This record gives sequence, structure tokens and C-alpha cells, in this order.
Amino acid sequence: MKAIPEEYQINQTIDQRKYLVNGELKTWNGNTTEVFSTISSTEEYKPTLLGSIPDMGEPEALDALDSAMKAFNRGQGVWPTMHVKDRIECMENFVRQMKTKRDIIVKLLMWEIGKSLPDSQKEFDRTVDYINDTIEEYKELDRNSAKFQKHDGVYAHIRRGPLGVVLCLGPYNYPLNETFALLIPAIIMGNTTVFKPAKHGVLLITPLLEAFQSSFPKGVVNILFGRGRAVAAPIMQTGKVDVLALIGNSKSANALQEQHPKSNRLRLVLGLEAKNPAIILPDADLDLTIDECIAGTLSFNGQRCTALKVIYVHEDVKDEFLKRYSQRVDELKFANPWEEGVKLTPLPEPGKPAYIQELIDDAIEKGAKIKNKKGGKQFDNYIWPAVLYPVSKDMRVYQEEQFGPVVPVVSFSDIEEPLNDMAESNYGQQVSLFGKDVYALSPLIDTLVNLVCRVNLNSSCQRGPDVYPFTGRKDSAQATLSVHDALRSFSIRTFVAFKDNDLNNETVLQLLEAKLSNFVSTDYIL
Ligand code: G3H
Repeated sequence: MKAIPEEYQINQTIDQRKYLVNGELKTWNGNTTEVFSTISSTEEYKPTLLGSIPDMGEPEALDALDSAMKAFNRGQGVWPTMHVKDRIECMENFVRQMKTKRDIIVKLLMWEIGKSLPDSQKEFDRTVDYINDTIEEYKELDRNSAKFQKHDGVYAHIRRGPLGVVLCLGPYNYPLNETFALLIPAIIMGNTTVFKPAKHGVLLITPLLEAFQSSFPKGVVNILFGRGRAVAAPIMQTGKVDVLALIGNSKSANALQEQHPKSNRLRLVLGLEAKNPAIILPDADLDLTIDECIAGTLSFNGQRCTALKVIYVHEDVKDEFLKRYSQRVDELKFANPWEEGVKLTPLPEPGKPAYIQELIDDAIEKGAKIKNKKGGKQFDNYIWPAVLYPVSKDMRVYQEEQFGPVVPVVSFSDIEEPLNDMAESNYGQQVSLFGKDVYALSPLIDTLVNLVCRVNLNSSCQRGPDVYPFTGRKDSAQATLSVHDALRSFSIRTFVAFKDNDLNNETVLQLLEAKLSNFVSTDYIL
């Protein structure tokens, strides 16, 4: 094992005892859960203890909900009625403080979830950019709403208003970026929130508690720790949550939704699992295709909802693709996240190598072979990506979202085969289509856009740039996220209307002049 550079060593554990409720950083005296990294700090392999977090339950969860409800105060709260300009100031204050925590958050991203140094830095910087872009987009939205319309003798002043209380749950693979891509638009639109960090990637939220506390009015952001079952379920059972914002898996989303007794009250903003295919046509440029498939299947070890999770390759190019792609997989560097040139890193879930091994065993039993020399090789905290071929529909690796380093490859001679599989699939997020012939591509693109929500031409699947819509069909998503769309997903159009008569016109003029209403206002924010 290479020595760990001094700046990335863990010299002190983080024993988090504070949580944020009702604007107070309360001290937790109950049970705690230890947080381990699967990365070893010693020559002989041993998970590293990073710290511990409170193991909260129903009373604290309901306390946090109560605090968010009070802050919303049936639409009368300071935050939901605040002028947009003032809400933006709070957010600017938050992002200023957040930027000072870059080093510690990047370090914790590496240790807690095994993300490489450049990718951890990118996750932090992308999140800061996302917040700044959201602020600009909100100003634009506000400018466009600072006016009256008139149709059929009725004036309308239309804006977007908050929905109420948002329960926000993020995933472990982007514990900062994806969680904040929910939380930030939810907050800025005037909602109040209860937020529970993911199981892995939880300590990295703790340096931000004070920034949340000092930037927003009390009760706008409440942060809890513990297991989803113990804290999220009781909150949903009250029927008082207006939005469930979750990036994760459809089973947990369904289980939580079902607990909510008022299904029409509950709005859903969900980014869920996917099984994005790559489709490689006979005329594909194989150099570029292989580069994109390596990035698409194995960036962050395939632990991305947008990862390419099955490769369909045309019979005519199958042999060459398999040979060259498998070789490239075996050339990737596996090491700790801070090491130069690293591509494959330790898996944060201790049980993941065994799960991937089960998928491999099942596929081999049903007729697949491992095409790369290192495929399936086990380490203490890793399993080398196995390129499996030929994969058939009865195999678990075809059916399940592997969310880890294993690559199923299916060959086809008729393009209807992958198209039919995609139509039958429970998922519908994105696809990567590799080829050059426009006569073949055109009808395919026209069909694929109706099966998924993003067709990546000669490019791997990805969420970014964050200004583009991120959504999916079927079990892959509900609602749309992007800098622009998220503001809409976390709000509702609401307006003041009045018939055109002297009394109303005079009253509205006075309302505008008095500048007492934050809703009825034609002021511009530049
Ligand atoms: O886990 C899913 C993420 O949204 C993927 O984002 O494509 O930018 O890695 P990314």
C-alpha cells in the first residue's frame, strides 16, 4: 500500500453530536452509529473509522417536521412570504460560507464514498456552480413574473409559489451534488425542509450545519441523522409532507409514498434507478465508442444512475469491440482516490463485491463468459470489473441495476432486439447510440426519444451539464430536474386575479405603491 499523503490522512474522527432543528444546533445524547471507510489506513487491510453520527428516531423526526411546519406556518411564515431578493441574499450568504469548506468536504468525499480526488473536487465545484446558477435563474423567473396580464377583462399577476414542507433524501454516490440539486431549489422557492443525508457520505454534510443555521430563518432547513426507516417513515405517516424529494431507488421511493395517507397532497420529485443501454451499430467509430463506453460504464465504478449498464453491440463488430474494450478495462488503474491517474477506486458499500460476484456467478452458470483477464478478481474492498458475454435476459446482471463494476454485453443482428428490450424495460432514462450512417440513425433517434429522455449520440450517458433536463420515464424518475426545471418542480403557479373596474384598478395601484406585499410587486431584481 502506498503511503497516504499527509493532507488526506485521517488524524481525528468526527463524532457528530449536533443536529439542526428549529434554527438550533441541538446536542444528541442518544445512541450513535459508527461511520467507517472501506479504505484502509494500515498496511494490513482494516476499514478506517471516520467518526460517528446520531442514530435518531421518531421523536426527533417529528420534532424536525414540526419545526419545518412552523416555519411554513400555513403559508404565513417569514420564509414563504419573504421577498425574492431577501431569499436570494440568504442563499448567497450560504454559498459564501460553503465555499470555505471545500477542502474538508473533498477529503470526506474521498474517504466516505471512495470518489477520486478530481471527481470529488468536481462534485464540490459543480454544486457551488449549481447554487449560483439557481440564483441567477430565480432572478430571471422573478423578472418575468413582475408584470400583469389581461385577458377577457380579467387581470392576472402570476408567480410561482412554494408547495410547503419538503422531505429531502439524497443518494450516496453524489451525496453533496445530487442532494443539493434537490435541497437548494426547494429552499429558494420558499419551501421549508427536513433533510436526512445518505447512509454513506454523511459526515461530509456536517461541516455545513452552521452555514445552514446562520443563513436561513429558523426551521427552514432541518437536518437529521439516522436510518431512513427510522426517521423518514414516521414523517411521511403524518400526512403533513407536501413534497417527497428523493434521489435513490424506486423501491424506497414507493415504500415512502405508500406511508403518506394523502396521496394528492404529496408531490414527488424523484430521480431513480436506470439501466441505460449503449447501442453500437456496425459502422460505429470504435476508437471513440470504446472511450465513451469505458467512461460510461466505469466512471466512479459504475455507481451512477446514468452509467451505461448494458452494452448492445452489433454482431459484425462484436468480436473487435469485446477484444479492445476488455483490454482497456484491464488497463484501468485501481488505487486509493487521491492517487494520480486513478480510475477505479474502493467500493464504499462493504457488501458490494460479494453482490457483484453473485451476478457474475449467476451469469456464468447461465452461459456467459468473463472476457477480460482481470474480470472478477477480488480485493479487500473491490472486485475488478468483469466484461460478461453473451448475456441473456434470464441473467440477474441483465435484470438488475448492478450499480457497480460489472459490464453485461449482448450482441444483436436486428436493431428491433434492443428496441424491444428497451420498450419492455421498467426503466427509461437515457441511451447512448453509436454510429455514423444518418439513414440508420434518423429513424432510431426518432424512436429512442420516445423510449427514454435523452439520446446521447456517440457519447456516454450523463446528467450534466446541469442546465439540461434530467428526468426519466417509468421507474426512472418523476418530475424534471435542471437549474431551470427544478425551480418549477418545487413550486406551483399561483396568482392574484381581478376584474377590470375602477375599484380594483385603484386598489392594485395602491398595493403596488405601498410596496407592502412581496407577491404583488413589479419591482425588478437585476
Ligand atoms: O447518479 C446519477 C447522477 O445523476 C449521474 O450524474 O451523469 O453527472 O455522473 P452524472
